[in-house]
Amino acid sequence: MEINVIEILEKLKEALEAEKLVRISSAHVSGISYFNVGEAGIDFLEKLVNECLKVKVPTTINPAGMDLEKWHEMGIPSWFAKRQIKIIELLKTIGASPTCTCTPYLVGNVPRRGSHVAWAESSAVVYANSIIGAKTNREGGPSSILAAIAGYTVCSGYHLDENRIPNLKVKVKAKIGSEVDQGLLGYIVAQRHPTAIPLFDKITLKHMHLKSMCAALATSGQIALFSWLPRCGQYSKIADKTVIDQSDISLTREKLSTLSEISDSDVIYLGCPHLSLQEIASFTKLLCRKNAKPKIKIWLGTSREIYRKCIRIGILEKLKKRNVEIICDTCIVVAPLKHMGIKCITVNSVKAAHYLRKLHNVKVHLASMEEIINAC
Ligand code: F3S
Repeated sequence: MEINVIEILEKLKEALEAEKLVRISSAHVSGISYFNVGEAGIDFLEKLVNECLKVKVPTTINPAGMDLEKWHEMGIPSWFAKRQIKIIELLKTIGASPTCTCTPYLVGNVPRRGSHVAWAESSAVVYANSIIGAKTNREGGPSSILAAIAGYTVCSGYHLDENRIPNLKVKVKAKIGSEVDQGLLGYIVAQRHPTAIPLFDKITLKHMHLKSMCAALATSGQIALFSWLPRCGQYSKIADKTVIDQSDISLTREKLSTLSEISDSDVIYLGCPHLSLQEIASFTKLLCRKNAKPKIKIWLGTSREIYRKCIRIGILEKLKKRNVEIICDTCIVVAPLKHMGIKCITVNSVKAAHYLRKLHNVKVHLASMEEIINAC
């Protein structure tokens, strides 16, 4: 059956009672791991390839289920690797760039403020809407591909300015000292108000904290956009309010941490969302300053592009000497952990903690990057 992408989008537009389609400047596609999409995902992509469909806008893709080069060292079974490579090849055939990262904005997919994009990957959606100021709904994997092929998406939801106004005041009465605390803050807000557009009275503007919160806001709810003071000055006009205090943060952290000690971990994973070059560099610096050589293997998750930069500036060499590996193209949440013999993991990400327990039934310890370094 022939696929008419514009016809599908027009039908979607009617179903959503939207007025029009809107031109997009980029797409970001999720649902790349064979662990998530299985044979159905391959069938879908094969149909697109058989019809010679190609993307019309720059299109990046989310992490796959394995490092595309070091999958063997990761303990990935070869039957999985073959199917994963097939997915990447099909995506490349339709013109997507094999970035395999959930931080497309760190590898060149940076939309202009106010521009419309069709991004899947919930953490990147929150980042695009809130930090960059682009406009996107939370697209699904297939819908982001169809939008990339059409060069358009349905002009509804967060594409419309009237749907981007904050409607929930968040008063933060807790100490937010780390990326984990910032993630917990977002997680609690989204748990209480899953579809809100929160306006925080204060947040930390460190990049890792922001990424962590973007991911967490999209984990326990469907939040796609937030703002903060003084960036948005409408605080007094908003009627709904929620207060987050120290006990909320501590309790949620306890609930998400099912493994009591870092030392009980099979692996420590940092990189949800994928790490930036600066984050890897500061981790390396702190580890070297402490002269630490961790006994438990540490994986740092990032894109291949940033990995190559780490090689060029000598970071990789330093990390290897200290039992730390950089894992590219993938993240621990979408890897087939059962087949890799991993049962206990330490992460510095609330999103990862949530999904590792839910999807893989593994034990998780939640600790900030600083706490992990101190424990090494
Ligand atoms: Fe990225 Fe995987 Fe976390 S896709 S946001 S590292 S769950």
